[in-house]
Amino acid sequence: MAESPDGTPAKGSGGTRPVPAYRHYLPVLVSWSVATLASLALVLNLEVQNAQERIRQQAALAFASLQERVQVNDVVLEGFAAALRSLPPIDDDRVRDYARAMLARYPHIGHLAISPRVLGTGRTRFETQIRAMGYADYEVRAFAYDGDRQWRPAPEAEVHYPVAFQEPMNADAPSVLGLDLSAAPHMAAALAQALSRNATAATVPFDLSEGGRGYVLFRPICPSYQESCSGGATEVTPRLVASLVVRADALVDCEADVSADFSCTVLYEDTERGDRRLLLERRSSHRAARLERLLLPKIEIRRRVESASQPLVLATAEQLGFRAFNLIPAAAVLVVSLGGLALVLAAVRSRVRSERDREHAYQALAEERRGMDRRVQERTHELSRLNAELQQENEARQGAEERLAVKERQARRLARRILEVQEAERRALARELHDDVGQSLTAIRIHAWLIRQQAVDPASAVGRSAEAIGEVAAALYDSTHRLMRRLRPPALDDAGLTAAFQSCVTAAELESLGIRVHLRVPKEIEGLNEAISITLYRALQEGLTNVARHSGAHNVWVRLSRTDAVDPGQGETEVASLTLEVQDDGRGMAEGAASTGFGLMGLRERVDTLGGTLELDTAPDRGLTLRVRVPL
Ligand SMILES: Nc1ncnc2c1ncn2[C@@H]1O[C@H](COP(=O)(O)OP(=O)(O)OP(=O)(O)O)[C@@H](O)[C@H]1O
Ligand SMILES: [Mg+2]
Repeated sequence: MAESPDGTPAKGSGGTRPVPAYRHYLPVLVSWSVATLASLALVLNLEVQNAQERIRQQAALAFASLQERVQVNDVVLEGFAAALRSLPPIDDDRVRDYARAMLARYPHIGHLAISPRVLGTGRTRFETQIRAMGYADYEVRAFAYDGDRQWRPAPEAEVHYPVAFQEPMNADAPSVLGLDLSAAPHMAAALAQALSRNATAATVPFDLSEGGRGYVLFRPICPSYQESCSGGATEVTPRLVASLVVRADALVDCEADVSADFSCTVLYEDTERGDRRLLLERRSSHRAARLERLLLPKIEIRRRVESASQPLVLATAEQLGFRAFNLIPAAAVLVVSLGGLALVLAAVRSRVRSERDREHAYQALAEERRGMDRRVQERTHELSRLNAELQQENEARQGAEERLAVKERQARRLARRILEVQEAERRALARELHDDVGQSLTAIRIHAWLIRQQAVDPASAVGRSAEAIGEVAAALYDSTHRLMRRLRPPALDDAGLTAAFQSCVTAAELESLGIRVHLRVPKEIEGLNEAISITLYRALQEGLTNVARHSGAHNVWVRLSRTDAVDPGQGETEVASLTLEVQDDGRGMAEGAASTGFGLMGLRERVDTLGGTLELDTAPDRGLTLRVRVPL
């Protein structure tokens, strides 16, 4: 690995700084937040649309109820007027039944009334007539709608329209009998409009005398025998005016929703005259929170009622609140989103963890690698030092080996020389013994024989001594001869190797020990150089002596064979050699015994000086084979 000089990992070699954990989590959290907010926005948007739709439907229902009741007002009043037109007496039971039926059916209608046209001059008579009909306290009166809201006698006027019939008419029902329509300005205005157009006209909204807010519809009624009250050839002033009181609180089915800031308003809007007044207002008690006002829309719907007589407008407004929403889908989105976030965070966490582990492993590896590099450097250094030492030792050993080889060569030369000298010495010694001691002993024997011959009596002391001297000399001669043969086998000099081997076998006297000797020596092996002959002879001598001394064998086989040189062109180069084998069938050599004596050791040195080999082939109770091979 590439390293900077201070040992830290170099840039670009994998030693990057670990990515901080927030870098893994931040994108996930941002994406999650965006996705969650988008999903929530989608769900909430759907909820808002649902709520808007619901509000629109509610507004439509409210408007339908208002529209229907406004039409009902016209129709009921028209029906009432029609009944009166054909039934001149106003207090007819059938008129009352009709009125009752309508009131029972339509709760928003406060009451139905009939007001005849009464001239100021006929007022007292009129009051008297009505009182005569059973209404004892009847009088033409006025109500201070804009003042102290008290009843008082109607002021004098040219024409009065006092209420002479009302339904409901019972003890509980508030009485408006005697109310002069033309005495109240707002009623007088509507009445004038109705009379001038001969059509239904509505007053502006006002606080009713019996309480509550409402307005009144007036319908002039002409006598049935006339085509119309006005517009015809003869203009006739209507004799009666039918009126219908509308109670605002029951006019529209407009219930406050659970939503915040709901309002339902019915307005009187006369666009021709630019008159705009409040008829009814309903508001929810719950106020919208600031956050709701900030985040959620306010839905406002405004519709004008289709009616010629009643210029009404329904305005609904609703500020959406959180309570209007079904939060289960949003909660489900949130739960699913949180679950997803948990899964993703778990995955990211495991990724961060594995990255951290990898980073730690990498750092440990880098550290290990640095340690290893250090150790390798130390080892390399150590190795090169050892190498240098080894080289020195090698050189020293080579020098020593060379010196040793020189020494060995010298030692071998010396050994060969010693053996040559030894053999020469033995030969000289044998010659000396033969020439000197042998001749002397022969002379002694001759002299002893002569003394015996010259002795008077051979049995005399002189004769016996001479005989004894002759016998000792003869024995000494035999010993000297044996010694001579031992020092220098005569056969080697005289008859050659085959005869020398034979004589060696004879001299070993193995037969006397019960050991049969099987000698096989080829006749053609003659004329060898002396060193080889002597070595082979000494080898046989040592081999037979060891058989006699150590083997306990019954047989011994002596074999001499020659191996010719192999043609260098056909196989391995091998010089011609002679091999002597002395094999017995005795107990075999005990382990470690080879190093105990000197015989085999000396023989090995002898063989070595000739460049030959000595092998021992033995096993317990399977005899021993001494194999000596010398190159020719
Ligand atoms: N043919 C054999 N059978 C069994 N043991 C043998 C034989 N030849 C040699 N040995 C064992 O090998 C040993 C070494 O023999 P070696 O000729 O070197 O010594 P040595 O005969 O004991 O003494 P010397 O020095 O007189 O020869 C012997 O002591 C003997 O135990
Ligand atoms: Mg020996």
